[in-house]
Amino acid sequence: MKLSDKFLDNQLSPKVSINPDLKYLGTETSFGFGAEVVALEIAKKFPQIYKFHIGDTGPNTPEPIIEVAFQALKDKQTKYGHFMGYPQVRANIANYWSKTRGVDIKTENVILEPGGKPAIELSIQALVGDGDKIIVQNPSYPVYGSLANFYTKGQCLNWTARQNSADMTLDFNIEDLVDILEKNKNIKLLFLNTPQNPTGMMMKKEKLEMVAELAMRYKFMVVFDDIYDQITFGDNKHFSLLSIPGMLDYTINLNGCSKNYAMTGWRIGFIIAPEWLIEIFGQLAVNKWSCVSRVNQIVAGTIFGDVDLDGYHYDSVAEKIKPILQADFIEYEKKGKFLSASLKLLSPFILSNEPEGAFYLFPNFANILKLKYLNETLNIKTDKKLSHWLLHEHGIATLAGSDFGDGGNGYIRFSYAEDRNKHIIPGIKHLLKIMIEIIEKSGEKPPILQTEVEEKIRQLEEKYYE
Ligand SMILES: Cc1ncc(COP(=O)(O)O)c(C=O)c1O
Repeated sequence: MKLSDKFLDNQLSPKVSINPDLKYLGTETSFGFGAEVVALEIAKKFPQIYKFHIGDTGPNTPEPIIEVAFQALKDKQTKYGHFMGYPQVRANIANYWSKTRGVDIKTENVILEPGGKPAIELSIQALVGDGDKIIVQNPSYPVYGSLANFYTKGQCLNWTARQNSADMTLDFNIEDLVDILEKNKNIKLLFLNTPQNPTGMMMKKEKLEMVAELAMRYKFMVVFDDIYDQITFGDNKHFSLLSIPGMLDYTINLNGCSKNYAMTGWRIGFIIAPEWLIEIFGQLAVNKWSCVSRVNQIVAGTIFGDVDLDGYHYDSVAEKIKPILQADFIEYEKKGKFLSASLKLLSPFILSNEPEGAFYLFPNFANILKLKYLNETLNIKTDKKLSHWLLHEHGIATLAGSDFGDGGNGYIRFSYAEDRNKHIIPGIKHLLKIMIEIIEKSGEKPPILQTEVEEKIRQLEEKYYE
């Protein structure tokens, strides 16, 4: 429910009115849905809830990072920190970014923030005025559209993915972006995410080059969100917009420690952007959160290099955490491939994409939603209702595709971050059996029988987890 509907002005006590623009504010459903899952766990309705809804990392923060934080606390690094991030910390990040992106990034191009998310609002507040427009991918991480609509009073423009008619995978077509740019004036920002939440797809170098060319031609900035940049599989190597000559001037690079380093709850992120914009962000930061905590600043710094602060020295943890992270990323890849292959057992009822990066799959359930038993007997006609039913009637937690924009209608987002033996393997068996039952009750023939599920999954386990 929208806040503006829930808190109707004439019913508030005392009699005050809320900001009318709140009607444009959306949300990130995974937090509310997560609370529903917790409530069901407490109510013990199911022996276990299989968690495919989590946008959080499965692995825990690597131990060497935790040790730095302990040490910093023992050293009483507990007072206010530098509002932009200590220069040495920012320099460490700049060095790493220069090396990995192949472009000269300076300390002045970097600012620390509490998590990656604040970069979204900072960018809009710094650049978007009355009448300006913002483009977001659809489907995409819902906070872009939520804040874009809030600040432009519902004028957010959607770059909606096209569906491949054969396998229903999604693709963002450059011609569609050009069309939006041609038809609209005053476009200030495009939000672009790769590896992408919710699809787990990556945008290839050639397409990013076309986006870059458009940014320079039409003079808009790109909030380039590559917060999952290190979690990529096989040949799908991440390519940064910053690596394209001239794009440092047009890019606001949202990144941080949450996903790559399994640190979602710490709230450490950073932005790489033109110097002038970083200065504006700094002033906005002072007005919002004053500074990122000192402990977090030290931790963020040691991920990329040594840190010295107030007479204390903290060694870089970069080399120590490398093998830990490598193992985490390999496990993500195995789980993603296993899950995609498992969902494909029910093709063409369920059509799954291949995992490319992050820890999400975005299978299409449109053919399941058309099934008579689901559609007519149970009256479940949308991905939203399906996700709700799967949780409340079967203890399987997933997110509805349409929670990421109407371009996600008919899709379900599966996260495979959680533990393979506790959630992914038993959860997918449970899901397949439920889907087979629906197919049969609708009078259609499932590609495999319920009695074959255990053996088929065992074979896939052998294939992907060897
Ligand atoms: C694409 C994307 N961008 C940004 C964020 C926010 O990251 P953080 O938790 O560091 O604020 C998320 C979190 O799920 C995400 O999926």
